[in-house]
Amino acid sequence: MENKKILVLGGAGYIGAHVVSELLKKQYKVLVYDNMSTGQKENLFDKAEFINADILDVSALEKAMDGVDAVIFFAGKKAVGESMLNPELYARNNLVGAVNVLNTMCAKGIKNIIFSSSAAVYGIPQYVPVDEKHPLNPINFYGFTKLETERLLEWYDKLKGIKYAALRYFNAAGYDPDGRVKGREQNPQNLLPIIAEVADGKRKCLQVFGTDYDTPDGTCLRDYIHVNDLATAHVLALEALLDGHDSMTLNLGTGKGVSVKEIVAAAEKFLGRKLPVEYAPRRPGDPAILYAKADRAKQVLGWQPKFVNVDEVVSSFLKKH
Ligand code: UD1
Repeated sequence: MENKKILVLGGAGYIGAHVVSELLKKQYKVLVYDNMSTGQKENLFDKAEFINADILDVSALEKAMDGVDAVIFFAGKKAVGESMLNPELYARNNLVGAVNVLNTMCAKGIKNIIFSSSAAVYGIPQYVPVDEKHPLNPINFYGFTKLETERLLEWYDKLKGIKYAALRYFNAAGYDPDGRVKGREQNPQNLLPIIAEVADGKRKCLQVFGTDYDTPDGTCLRDYIHVNDLATAHVLALEALLDGHDSMTLNLGTGKGVSVKEIVAAAEKFLGRKLPVEYAPRRPGDPAILYAKADRAKQVLGWQPKFVNVDEVVSSFLKKH
């Protein structure tokens, strides 16, 4: 695949940069396209080309897609709470952006795309582990934009022959243990980066949202999937599409639920000290338990997560900081 050129939209972000690093390792030619709204300079690699542009800028997209064999589409807004307060922003960036990407691919004759979807397409789980056949019922606008983009992909496959891999991430976590990805997310909203800020003293304390859930220790269970495992899944999905595989929709998770308290305990173990923790009320919209059945990714791609130990995931995240 050495001669294939891959356009990575949002390649300077957290997951994007890990995927770029994996693509470079596999000798792909990589063009990173990022408006640097949340992407970071430290996440750019010398070996990858870079264009600073927005997916809302169609003429920039057209130029970037010249000679490209496949597109990997991160470049999305992803804060659940913000999506409920400012749906216009999410509609513009995630939905108009997706239409721009797909229409430009059609104009340029590009047939393969990997899309960053999310477990948020399922909404409150009716059963766990959640498989890909679980009803699709997002409870936030962010999840709605991911689901609608998946539906666009299905139609563009039927009507225009675009082959896609929609990858539904559960809770992306960790950092490259080899330290190839350096950037740190600004204003994080998720558990692990918040713990990192508490560890650094940037935040006074961690609020644990809800301790009265019907779970073994009363806190929510989530499926924390290491970002390097996400990266290998992207490259496998890309290779499958480039080899002529049909479109696919796959969960990417470990299949194991880990509680907030277990994450905090793993962080404290790694740091060798207690963290300031406050037990707070439940956060609206949080399901008690959410973890994946990821067997389809194994069957279709032969993919299996390597980082299954929560200590490894948490320590690789905190080592960075
Ligand atoms: C959410 C979305 C997911 C999205 C992800 C990335 C849902 C159901 N999930 O995951 O689709 O891809 O964000 O933006 O919408 N927690 C605390 N204290 C904190 C922060 C979090 O206790 O300060 C707890 C939460 O209550 C939750 C767990 O930690 O139980 C993980 O939270 P978070 O990292 O925000 O991810 P999700 O809400 O699971």
